[in-house]
Amino acid sequence: MTDAAPQPVFLKDYTPFGFLVDQVELNFHLQPTATRVRAKIAFRPNPAARDRRFFLHGEDLTLISAAIDGSPVTPEITPEGLSCPVPEAPFVWEAEVEIAPAENTALEGLYMSNGMYCTQCEAEGFRKITFYPDRPDVMAPFRVRVDCDLPVLLSNGNPVAQGAGWAEWNDPWPKPSYLFALVAGELVATSDRFTTSEGREVALNVWVRPADQGKADYALDSLIRSMKWDEEVYGRAYDLDVFNIVAVDDFNMGAMENKGLNVFNSRYVLASPETATDRDYENIERIIAHEYFHNWTGDRITCRDWFQLSLKEGLTVFRDSQFSADMRSAAVKRIEDVMTLRARQFREDNGPLAHPVRPESYTEINNFYTATVYEKGAEVIGMLRRLVGPEGYARALDLYFARHDGQACTIEDWLQVFEEATGRDLTQFKRWYSQAGTPRVKVTEDFRDGTYTLHLEQKTPPTPGQDEKQPQVIPLAVGLLSSNGDEVLPTTVIELTEARQDAVFEGLAAKPVPSLLRGFSAPVILERDSAPEERAFLLAHDTDPFNKWEAGRSLAREVLIAMVTEEAAPAPAWLDALAAVARDEALDPAFRALALRLPGEDELAEALAERGTVPDPLAIHAARERAKTAVARHLDPLWAGLYAQMDCPGPYSPGAADAGRRALRLAALGYMARLDGGARAQAHFAAADNMTDEIGALSVLLETGGADEALDRFARRWGHDRLVMDKWFGLQATLAAPERAVAVTRALTEHPEFTWKNPNRFRAVIGGFSANAAGFHDASGAGYDLVADWLIRLDAVNPQTAARMSTAFETWARYDAGRREKAQAALERIAAREGLSRDMGEMVDRLLA
Ligand code: PHE
Ligand code: ZN
Repeated sequence: MTDAAPQPVFLKDYTPFGFLVDQVELNFHLQPTATRVRAKIAFRPNPAARDRRFFLHGEDLTLISAAIDGSPVTPEITPEGLSCPVPEAPFVWEAEVEIAPAENTALEGLYMSNGMYCTQCEAEGFRKITFYPDRPDVMAPFRVRVDCDLPVLLSNGNPVAQGAGWAEWNDPWPKPSYLFALVAGELVATSDRFTTSEGREVALNVWVRPADQGKADYALDSLIRSMKWDEEVYGRAYDLDVFNIVAVDDFNMGAMENKGLNVFNSRYVLASPETATDRDYENIERIIAHEYFHNWTGDRITCRDWFQLSLKEGLTVFRDSQFSADMRSAAVKRIEDVMTLRARQFREDNGPLAHPVRPESYTEINNFYTATVYEKGAEVIGMLRRLVGPEGYARALDLYFARHDGQACTIEDWLQVFEEATGRDLTQFKRWYSQAGTPRVKVTEDFRDGTYTLHLEQKTPPTPGQDEKQPQVIPLAVGLLSSNGDEVLPTTVIELTEARQDAVFEGLAAKPVPSLLRGFSAPVILERDSAPEERAFLLAHDTDPFNKWEAGRSLAREVLIAMVTEEAAPAPAWLDALAAVARDEALDPAFRALALRLPGEDELAEALAERGTVPDPLAIHAARERAKTAVARHLDPLWAGLYAQMDCPGPYSPGAADAGRRALRLAALGYMARLDGGARAQAHFAAADNMTDEIGALSVLLETGGADEALDRFARRWGHDRLVMDKWFGLQATLAAPERAVAVTRALTEHPEFTWKNPNRFRAVIGGFSANAAGFHDASGAGYDLVADWLIRLDAVNPQTAARMSTAFETWARYDAGRREKAQAALERIAAREGLSRDMGEMVDRLLA
C-alpha cells in the first residue's frame, strides 16, 4: 500500500498561526534510544489571526502525557501532529514525549553522530523533537535544561547554571523553532574572547571531538574577523554573552546558524596545513562568516514562511561574499563566484528544476535550499546595490534592521525599505524574485559619425510552469576601450528595462571596443558575436578584472567548441593570449591560475546545447584533453620558470597571496605532467608538506596516469582521517578516465571505508562521480544506474541528502536519444520504489516532468 501523494504548499495560502508563544521551556533527558523531552509552552491567542484551531506539528514522537493549565488532555494525533481544544485565553501547554536519537539516520531533529548528541531543526526538524507550531513566524524565548552524563551540554543563548550531569541555558531573543539547537558530547573547546562595539564581553568557543583538538584555530580566527567586519560594515554587533560553534561529522549541509550555537559540518571547521587545502581554508572562512552573519540576517530578522527563504539566504550569501572579497582578492572572489553560479545556478535555471528565487509552491521545503535561492538570491541583492548605490544600500539596510528587528519578514518588507530609503520604484525589479530562468541579453552594435549604439534585447526562456516572461531590470555595467587599449568610457551602468532598448554613446573618435557586463553586473547570459581577436584584445587590455578573465574564458569556450564540433586545432591566437597572461608578472598569480583553467565539460555541454547541438560527453572530454596538451606544449618554455618562481618558502600560510602562488604553481605542474610523464608531479607529491600540494599533485597524477602508488601511500598515511579520506575517495571518482569511471566508482563503493551513511563520504563518491561528466553519462547507461541504485539506498536512510544528490540528473534531457532513454529509465526506476521519501518523490517528479 502506498501513502496518499503528499500535498504541495502554496505561498498564496499563507495565514498566521492562531496563537502567539510567550515562552518555551524544554527539558531533555538524553538517552540513545529513549530520550525524554518535556515541554512547557505559554500560548496566547493571536489577535492578528482568524483561524484559532490549535494544531501542533509533531512527527515520529511518542506522546507520554499532555496537559493544559495543569489538567491532562487527550489530543487527537495524526502522523503530522496533534490538535486539541484549548481555552480562549492565555494557557500553558505541557507535554512529554519520547524519541530515539540513536535511530535517527535522517540527521534531522535530534540525532547522534560519533557518540555525541546534536540537533538540526531547519527547516522542519523541530517537530521531531516535540509538538510545536514548527513554522518560522512563531517566535519565542527559549529556556532549556539538559540532563545527560556527557561532559559538555550546550543549547542556545546564555548559560544559566550547570552541575554534574546537567546544564541550563536561556535564550532571551525570541526565535523560531528552526533555530533551536542542543549538543551534548565529549568535546574540547578552542576559545577566545571578543568585546563588541557596544562593550559586551563575549566568550567564543569552537568545540570539537578530542581527536580533532588543535584544528579549530582558523575557524576561531575567522569568527573574530567576521564579528569585527559586521560591526564595521553593517553596524551589527553580537547580542549574547557566548558564541558557540560545534563541529559535527555527520551533517546534511554545510552548517547551521542556530542562535548562539552554530552547528557545523566538521569539514567547514577543522583545518591544519597538513590536512586542509587552501580551498578548505577559504571555505571555512566563508562559512563561519555566513553563519555568524545570519545572527542578524536570519535570526534577529527571520522569514515569515519558507517561501521567503532567500530573504535570509540570498542576503547572507551576499554579505559573506562581500566579507570574502574584503579578506582576499575581490577580483578573484568575483570570478570564482561567477564560475559557481554558472556551474550550479545557470544549470538549474536551464533545466527541469528551474524555480524562482521566491518559489510559489513546494512539496518538500528541503528541496529548495538551492543555488537559485542562495546564489541567484545573492546576485539579486548585488544588482539592487548596484542600482541604488552603496549609500542607498546602507540606508536601506539600516532601515531594515531598525524596522524589522525581532520580526518574521517577507521579500515585500525587504523591497519596501529600499523604496523608502531611496525613493526608487522596485515594482519591475521584483520580477527577479518571481520569474525563473536566466535572461539572455542579445547585443548588436553600430557606429556612425562618432556615435556608438548598442542595441540590447532581453529574453528569458520558458521554465516549468512559466511560459511567458516579462522584461526585467538588468543593470548592465559597460566600459568602452579604444583600439590602443585606453579606456574612453569608464564603467557606466545602463539600466535595461525594456525588451529592446538602445544605449547611445556620442562624441567618439573611432569605433570603440565594448567591455560589457563588467564585474558580471547581472546574472544573465550575454549573446554577442565577436571576433576572437576582440576577445584576445580584451583579455590583454580590459581594465575590469572580471571581464579580462571573462574574455579569456569565452575565447577558450569558443575554441573548445570548435574543437568538439569541427575537430579543429586549438586557435593559435588563444594559445598566444594564454601565454601572455601566464607570463604577465603584473597580474595576481591567483588570477593567472584561474585564466589557465579551461572551461569544464559540463559548461561546454551546456554551451553546445544552447547552440542547438546535442553534446557528446566523450567528444567533449577528448577535445578538452587535446586542448590541455596543446596548452602544455605551446607554453612549454614557461612552465619550469613559473614552477620555480611560485615556490612558497617558509611556513604554510592559508592567506590569499600564498594560496594564489600555490594555485599557479600547481597549474604549471599539471601542464608539465603532460610533457614529462608526471615525473615532476611524483616528486612534488613526495615532497609536499601541506595538503594543498599533496592533493594537488595527486590530482595531476590521477589525470595524467601513474597515480596508483601515490594513492596507496596517501591512504596509508591518512586512513585515520575521515575528512582527508573524503578527498581520496572523491578525487578518484571525479578524475577517473571516462571508460574506467563506472568501474572505479563501483570499486570505491565496495571499499570497507565507504561509510555511505555519512553524507560527506556519500557526496565524495557518488557526487564526485556525478561530476565526472563523461563517466556519469556513459553511453551504456551504467553511470545512471549506479547513481540511481545508490540514491534509492540512501533515500531509505537519509532522504534529504539523497534527494539533493538527484540533481545529478538535471541535465539528462540535453543528451541524445539513447542516453535520454537510459536516464529516464533510471529515474523511473527510482520513482517506482515503494516507500520513496517525499523529498525524493518530488525531485524525480520534477526531473521527469
Ligand atoms: N541555513 C543553513 C545555512 O544556509 C543551511 C541549512 C539548511 C543547514 C537546512 C541545515 C539544514 O547556513
Ligand atoms: Zn545560510
